[in-house]
Amino acid sequence: MPKRRDFLKASGWGGAAWAAGITASGAAGQEGKPQAVYSPLDFSRLTGTPGFSETLLKNHFTLYQGYVTNTNRLLEILAQMGREGKLATPEGAELRRRLGWEWNGLRLHELYFGNLGGKAPLESGGKLGRVLAGSFGSVEAWTKDFKAVAAMRGIGWVALVEDGANGRLFNIWVNEHDGGHFAGAGPVLILDVFEHAYMIDYGLKKADYVEAFFKAIDWAAAEARLR
Ligand SMILES: [Fe+2]
Repeated sequence: MPKRRDFLKASGWGGAAWAAGITASGAAGQEGKPQAVYSPLDFSRLTGTPGFSETLLKNHFTLYQGYVTNTNRLLEILAQMGREGKLATPEGAELRRRLGWEWNGLRLHELYFGNLGGKAPLESGGKLGRVLAGSFGSVEAWTKDFKAVAAMRGIGWVALVEDGANGRLFNIWVNEHDGGHFAGAGPVLILDVFEHAYMIDYGLKKADYVEAFFKAIDWAAAEARLR
């Protein structure tokens, strides 16, 4: 585990993925100080996915790694501010708000890449197909609704989420990374609709990107997220 001075040296905004190989989260660091650490996941298996160029994917992986770096850095800064009794300050409050943006950027990218790279179509009679039909009337109706959310103007995410209270599924819009989440709802299928997710390959043709996404969904990965 890197020493704190190494962390500060290596974890500049947009810096190297210093945490590679370290998987502990919330573990005690040097001198017993709390040190929350995330490691970037390797999604290189997605290279070659039809409809997603290598250039686009590599750029996107780099962006994702930035969220990992910055989440780690914010956690460390907030921990340090806590040790120094500086959390009840405007700076502490704004960094806490920023943490939700960075952390959700990290996790949403992992969920998005994690439900990409599939080759088999959705089995309408499978578990996910059945719950989609149960919530939306049919898989076709769900697809139409999901694509309508994806067509919304603006940057953010489209998320199929499952209400933890009753299992109902919703297609929701997540603004940026941290606005619009349904509390207690678990992610099932995530689509990145920031321009960086498609403009290298599709320019302004977002609908074509969404079609490519649908052809590349790993339905088994999405289904495994159902509670
Ligand atoms: Fe992204």
